[in-house]
Amino acid sequence: MEKKFWKNKKVLMTGHEGFLGSWLSRTLVNAGAQVIGVDIVKNRKISLLNENGLRTRLTGIKADIADFKVMRKIIKKHNPHIVFHLAAEAIVSRANKEPVRTFRSNIEGTWNILEISRESRSIEAIVMASSDKAYGSHKILPYTENAALKGDHPYDVSKSCADLIGYTYAHTYGVPVVTTRCGNIYGPGDYNFSRIVPDAICCALTGKKLIIRSDGKFTRDYVYVDDIVQGYIILAEKLRALNLHGQAFNLSDENPISVIKLVNKIYALAGEKPKYTILNKARYEIKHQYLDSGKARRVLKWKPEFSLTQGLKAAMEWYAKTITA
Ligand SMILES: NC(=O)c1ccc[n+]([C@@H]2O[C@H](COP(=O)([O-])OP(=O)(O)OC[C@H]3O[C@@H](n4cnc5c(N)ncnc54)[C@H](O)[C@@H]3O)[C@@H](O)[C@H]2O)c1
Repeated sequence: MEKKFWKNKKVLMTGHEGFLGSWLSRTLVNAGAQVIGVDIVKNRKISLLNENGLRTRLTGIKADIADFKVMRKIIKKHNPHIVFHLAAEAIVSRANKEPVRTFRSNIEGTWNILEISRESRSIEAIVMASSDKAYGSHKILPYTENAALKGDHPYDVSKSCADLIGYTYAHTYGVPVVTTRCGNIYGPGDYNFSRIVPDAICCALTGKKLIIRSDGKFTRDYVYVDDIVQGYIILAEKLRALNLHGQAFNLSDENPISVIKLVNKIYALAGEKPKYTILNKARYEIKHQYLDSGKARRVLKWKPEFSLTQGLKAAMEWYAKTITA
């Protein structure tokens, strides 16, 4: 991280109350940036932002990114230099239940940010969260950035669309936007307890039985949140110099693992015998998906620094403190 680059930079962070947003906000505030966060939720109870007086060191605004007028007012008022666009309905099962709200947040919210940025004179770089799910389901593994974006289900489709909208704003209007497609991110601060890592850790720590919705054989790669934070920061710093407008980068650990193996590892690290039930009821989800991050390694000189064991241990420590607090 180039601390000089961030000193007094104005950063608009959509979704700053979320898992990744809180991590990025913390890192940037500590580097001297002025973070203006926009989130539909205000003061989430379980959040990294509640630690070390962080909330008092950033500006938090409660707003819906799908509201064009409000977002335009916020961006015009603050004139940010850098935008991290992370706000989204990010939970697949909730997106399946509420497709319209998901499309509004993930697609309309994205075009709002990009359309408003098109008029802005201050914005130098926009780093936008797409997802590995934007690819939909492909037979050829691992997925490279050249794989077609062809989601099948609401969350995946919302990300395929938003990703393409980012691309067109860069290519048609020269908006400085670069897109990330990350594997499954995990680590301290993820309050989304329906996700497999927080759920399995909490069950292992409390002795509750874990319910696995899939058949346990789905494969994914899991990448530690601080590694992703570093990837986002490098992208913002290098977008101009490397002319990354309109490009997308896979960010992942490249070590795919099945759900059952992951769960067994979490229980072993907690010193417990695995206790779970396999429901085999996950519908509308991609079975096998993992990414090739060769482009990020080559172009950005990025690579994950945390092994799965190190990352899970750090997460477990945080959950142990948080759920007993
Ligand atoms: N966590 C992962 O494994 C992962 C993997 C790939 C991509 N992503 C993407 O990265 C981004 C961040 O993910 P996360 O894990 O931090 O998710 P998260 O759910 O923890 O955070 C998303 C935040 O966006 C906010 N939000 C949702 N709709 C909004 C709206 N209409 N207006 C304003 N705020 C709104 C939520 O309140 C939340 O605080 C998302 O775009 C997600 O799709 C996440």
